[in-house]
Amino acid sequence: MMESTMPQLEIGSVKAKLPIVQGGMGVGVSLSRLASAVADEGGIGVISTAAIGRIKPDSDESDSTILREVIRKTKALTRGIFGLNIMMAISDFNEHLKVAIEEKVAVVFLGAGLPLRIPEIISVDRARNCFTNLVPKISSSRAAQAICKFWDRHYSITPDAVVVEGPRAGGHLGFRMEDINNPEFRLEVLLPEVIKEIVPYEQKYGRSIPVIAAGGIYSGEDIHKFIELGAKGVKMGTRFVATNECDVDSKFKQAYVDCSEEDLILINSPVGLPGRAIKSKLLTDVSRGIIKPINCLWKCLKTCDRRKAPYCIAEALSNARNGDLVNGFAFAGANAFRIKEIISVKELMSTLVEEFNLVTSPTA
Ligand SMILES: Cc1cc2nc3c(=O)[nH]c(=O)nc-3n(C[C@H](O)[C@H](O)[C@H](O)COP(=O)(O)O)c2cc1C
Repeated sequence: MMESTMPQLEIGSVKAKLPIVQGGMGVGVSLSRLASAVADEGGIGVISTAAIGRIKPDSDESDSTILREVIRKTKALTRGIFGLNIMMAISDFNEHLKVAIEEKVAVVFLGAGLPLRIPEIISVDRARNCFTNLVPKISSSRAAQAICKFWDRHYSITPDAVVVEGPRAGGHLGFRMEDINNPEFRLEVLLPEVIKEIVPYEQKYGRSIPVIAAGGIYSGEDIHKFIELGAKGVKMGTRFVATNECDVDSKFKQAYVDCSEEDLILINSPVGLPGRAIKSKLLTDVSRGIIKPINCLWKCLKTCDRRKAPYCIAEALSNARNGDLVNGFAFAGANAFRIKEIISVKELMSTLVEEFNLVTSPTA
């Protein structure tokens, strides 16, 4: 890898060479192969724990056991830094967080929900003293303030970093449908607002709480722009799907290469949030009111109402992961249509560094 002028990213007890976090992507999109490749290149790789049991459909092991195996496999593959993405909305949240702490995972990103209460099974002392750094993902300065205030008042701790995700991201979005295209909610606007909320807690605790920007970040120039705006790092999902190492079937990756801007649509997900995805037959059927029967054996999402959900999202995402994009769909960010080829993680990271360097020293 060429010399980088990018700053390093320090989250609590860990320091990554590059300020690039690969977004955790479920179901089974970011597992050990992708996360270890990103970690090897100096970024932070992230395993998504959402419905992780679906990667071994014939196994009777619990999701937590399968998660532990995936973590151990990743450890065996890389000496770099990797973390987990655990959605607040999943029923297994507490168990997955417990596994993360027991396995001494460096960072846990907490997505899809407001992580106010620290689960009792973990205990505040443990959260304060464990190796694992806790990083909530939020989409407004109000949410940043609510978490910092609650953790300060009840636990005397701060988050180890915060991810602020704007409305151009892939996957579930922390916005109301009507706010997604409102310029007031652009990442460029949200980021400085979130940083302002965090500063008093940095001062009170005498520590840095890095703010990481996410959602629609595509190039090294974009990374530079958000670092100039005060971000200490960026989190990117869409770009990492289109890599050789991404843990999905090649048809999923090809859907990224083939999609046009018009194919990227907003949906109402059974999780109870809007989401951005590539149009598929399943999504078209659902938009026409065709209900897909749900055979729900295990309520994997706390927020899913089985009686009203038009389809099972875990199954749809798992189908897509395995290459069935007719009975499933791929989540994707607003920039997915710009992807023209599948490359290696090494190539992607080098390109991002090169583009970033060109902004900082254009004659180099
Ligand atoms: C295919 C895909 C699946 C995703 N799954 C999850 C998930 O399970 N949990 C989560 O918190 N975020 C999820 N995300 C969001 C990413 O972690 C990341 O925050 C986002 O992709 C950043 O925006 P970008 O795609 O424009 O780079 C997903 C994104 C994509 C593209």
